Amino acid sequence: MTLAMVTYNPNDPALYANPYPTYARLRDEQPLYHNPDLGIVALSRHVDVSAAWSDPGLYSSDHGPVIEEFGPDAAEVMGFVAMDPPQHTLMRRLVASGFTPGRVSRLEPRIRELTRKHLRPLLEQGSGDFISFATAIPVDVISELIGVPEADRPMLLGLSQQIMTRGDINGRLTPAVTQANMELGAYYGGLIAERRREPRDDLASALLQAEIEGRRLSDREVIATLMLLGVAGNETTARLLGTAWRCAWQHPEQRVRVWSGEIKVDRWVEETLRLEGPSQYTARRVTRPVELYGTVVPANALMLLVIAAANRDERVFPDADLFDMSRDTSQTLAFGRGPHFCLGAPLARLEARIVLQELVRAVQVDYDVDMTGASWTTSPNVRGHAKLPTTIKPRTSMT
Ligand code: HEM
Repeated sequence: MTLAMVTYNPNDPALYANPYPTYARLRDEQPLYHNPDLGIVALSRHVDVSAAWSDPGLYSSDHGPVIEEFGPDAAEVMGFVAMDPPQHTLMRRLVASGFTPGRVSRLEPRIRELTRKHLRPLLEQGSGDFISFATAIPVDVISELIGVPEADRPMLLGLSQQIMTRGDINGRLTPAVTQANMELGAYYGGLIAERRREPRDDLASALLQAEIEGRRLSDREVIATLMLLGVAGNETTARLLGTAWRCAWQHPEQRVRVWSGEIKVDRWVEETLRLEGPSQYTARRVTRPVELYGTVVPANALMLLVIAAANRDERVFPDADLFDMSRDTSQTLAFGRGPHFCLGAPLARLEARIVLQELVRAVQVDYDVDMTGASWTTSPNVRGHAKLPTTIKPRTSMT
């Protein structure tokens, strides 16, 4: 019997709710996948995705990490995620010198405070959209880090959501996304002009002042970096929270053990990242012909590293489709590997842990989720719920 060839188009909305059967077929049947209509090749096994991430000489980031904006100018809107060493190394060091672990861990009490503030209406009403709650927190956190005033945050959230709403099946950039990118760039341009005049204790000011080996960031580079941080920091973390909430709801026996303190909230976060992490893929440009699984991939091919497929690879994670908070997740690829490993991973993990801890503290274990009212984001690379109706009861100690 010959099997029908698998078709994989990350832009296809039919994939958003459940891409995992397609990913399983990619890993098992076509570990090197080619879609000539879309002009992509894809790797989906854990071993191949990890190896590609660790070899930036062969798998270049110089055309950026997404299909729609794949091209030599990607770094203008996406900053150093679209660069290779040695330029990437220097830029990342400059940004990391402002985005320090100290600056991140100092945010902990503030994240807790913001979580309590945003949770209050949901607790009072007893039901509502979990995503509205989950989206509000990362945007506040990243805005406070960067130095965006409160009044501007709803506008920034709208723009970053617009930027992530792709919805073109052929992977073309829609005018709405281009427009939102321009508006976001103009906004940050104005913000850094203010910070140049009057520096503050925020990341925007720190980036303007950062200096390594006599090199400073230009205004354009600071703008691209802020755009990268703003968009990468908002959408991914909000989606992670929504998925974590739904996954625990689907697994009541594990949920009870989290609520009783037997399983740590960090395990909940890590297993959600592995099983259904928000990042579906990242893109690379192949710099020279390379033979993979008996086929020569030509130079300049657009190679997708299908992160979410690699995280369910049975060759690394036994019973990979099962949600099991007690499993070893040390080989997770949810935040990438190698030189481009997510710079925001400590912040994303901190936010997720605090928000979920606060929920455990404030909400009774038998909360409900209405999957008939749930929907999915229309983004090929950041997956999660766009809506997730939930019903909750406050813990008696809270009332
Ligand atoms: C659950 C949340 C998140 C996930 C799943 C995630 C995932 C990823 C992945 C897979 C990459 C690697 C991209 C590549 O190799 O092409 C990456 C890079 C990056 N992420 Fe995240 N991210 C998350 C949250 C954040 C947050 C909160 C921030 C910042 C506030 C952030 C900032 C960045 C930056 C700056 C890079 C580029 C690093 C580089 O190119 O050196 N991310 N992220």
